[in-house]
Amino acid sequence: MIRLNRVSKRFHEAGVDRSILNDVSLTFAKGEFVVLLGKSGSGKSTLLNLIAGIDTPSAGEVFIDGKSLTRMSDHERTLFRRTHIGFVFQSFNLIPTLSVLENVCLPLELDMRNRGANGKAIEQRAKDLLTQVGVAHRIHAFPDRLSGGEQQRVAIARALINDPMVVLADEPTGNLDADTGKLVLDLIDTLTRKAGKNLVMVTHSEEVVGVADRVLRLRNGQLI
Ligand SMILES: Nc1ncnc2c1ncn2[C@@H]1O[C@H](COP(=O)(O)OP(=O)(O)O)[C@@H](O)[C@H]1O
Ligand SMILES: [Mg+2]
Repeated sequence: MIRLNRVSKRFHEAGVDRSILNDVSLTFAKGEFVVLLGKSGSGKSTLLNLIAGIDTPSAGEVFIDGKSLTRMSDHERTLFRRTHIGFVFQSFNLIPTLSVLENVCLPLELDMRNRGANGKAIEQRAKDLLTQVGVAHRIHAFPDRLSGGEQQRVAIARALINDPMVVLADEPTGNLDADTGKLVLDLIDTLTRKAGKNLVMVTHSEEVVGVADRVLRLRNGQLI
């Protein structure tokens, strides 16, 4: 489902070339749940961004469901990402000028497949998801009125609106207190791993590490 073939990533900054990922190859089977560990700055977010097609490798190739993200144009990759990948960020990344409901509907409304689709049907799917994550009572609120936990629940609903097979979560509880974090992790578990989706998560939660199919650690640009 996810395949990286000899992927490297270098950043050029202030005249210096820094190698962050170095010839990384990996394959995740369909439905596999992988936890990614590593010190701060080891390249975890960089790796997730490459899998998501948010960023492109300096060398090597990324495949999702047999298709090469690397060979797509930026536009093709954006469309592909919208339909195949859900992303949950540490800092929620909701759009502040849109209501909760609008935030969740947006990826589906942007999705080409749904051009001409019934706006009411999109809204209903968003409402169903918001009910599942427990924020149905806040659909008309704006993100800055919500607690961190509520914002992350909304972000989970947004990540799932296109029913992606691959969900990437980058320290999804990093900005939440322990109890709220646990609820958010349970939700992600129920709606992704238990639903048979591929889940790749950066987290230091020992509980999550305990239920992962595989735990990978990034060190010196390589996976251990
Ligand atoms: N766009 C960028 N430009 C330059 N350096 C970057 C960029 N993105 C990340 N880096 C650097 O790459 C390294 C790895 O970053 P990151 O993937 O965010 O690590 P982690 O998520 O494991 O903490 C860091 O040293 C970071 O400063
Ligand atoms: Mg990171």
